[in-house]
Amino acid sequence: MKTTLVLLAALAFAGCHQAAAPRGPAAKAFGAAIVDVSGEKGVTGAGAALDQPIVSQVNDAQGNGVAGALVEMSGPAGVVFDPPSGLTGPDGQFTSNVRLGSAAGRYLLTATTRDKAGKAFQVSFPEVALDYQQTLGRELNEMYCSRCHNSESTAERVSNHDNLSVPPHAFSDGTALNQYTGPNLVAIISHGGAALGKSAEMPPYSPTLSAGDIDALAAYIRAVADPPYRAPGIF
Ligand code: HEC
Repeated sequence: MKTTLVLLAALAFAGCHQAAAPRGPAAKAFGAAIVDVSGEKGVTGAGAALDQPIVSQVNDAQGNGVAGALVEMSGPAGVVFDPPSGLTGPDGQFTSNVRLGSAAGRYLLTATTRDKAGKAFQVSFPEVALDYQQTLGRELNEMYCSRCHNSESTAERVSNHDNLSVPPHAFSDGTALNQYTGPNLVAIISHGGAALGKSAEMPPYSPTLSAGDIDALAAYIRAVADPPYRAPGIF
């Protein structure tokens, strides 16, 4: 029992948070809550910056932004915040740019503020760092898949999503994508929807893409799944 507790403490220490939060400026005001404004669920390469900064907001008990409250950022070892702490602006918001660590995987980043008595309030931002194979999958997705699987159009690409009779899912939609086992995920990408009794509007990609490319797409889909994919039989 004692050993387990020590081990858990050691794991929590090693895996979760930086040992000491960097000392920020002194708070000029205090809030009663902190909420997530934007920047959660970002996806980038391991060791790379997130496209969007993390924005949190400190509120008072009525839900109004508090200016001058101290926010401190924390995350797993290797994550760099710029700035790591600071005071909220006139709108109660604090913005920090983030570079994820060099290990691929899921990162849980935390913004903390405290009330006058020192009680902590926190909000968490889940982010994903892709390895080399998953990054290739992300690029292939942009080239071949996004126009149907992403319902939003961009300046470079008009979405075809709403023209399809069976709407495909965003690859981050773990509830839908996690239902495909590894072999079925590779099969629907390789052989198309019709091969699995699904919509023929999902084209077969084995004529166009290499087996390595298709594995990379599958790895990317697993990496961004929300909720995360759990391989069957592994607990
Ligand atoms: C022309 C439109 C189109 C393109 C391009 C396309 N898909 Fe699909 N995809 C579909 C449709 C429609 C379905 C829904 C099939 C069903 O459920 O009957 C689908 C389903 C899927 C599924 C099953 C999960 C889901 O979303 O329902 C996967 C996995 C998938 N596609 C992967 C890919 C990959 C990877 C690419 C790019 C290499 C791609 N698709 C490109 C239309 C497309």
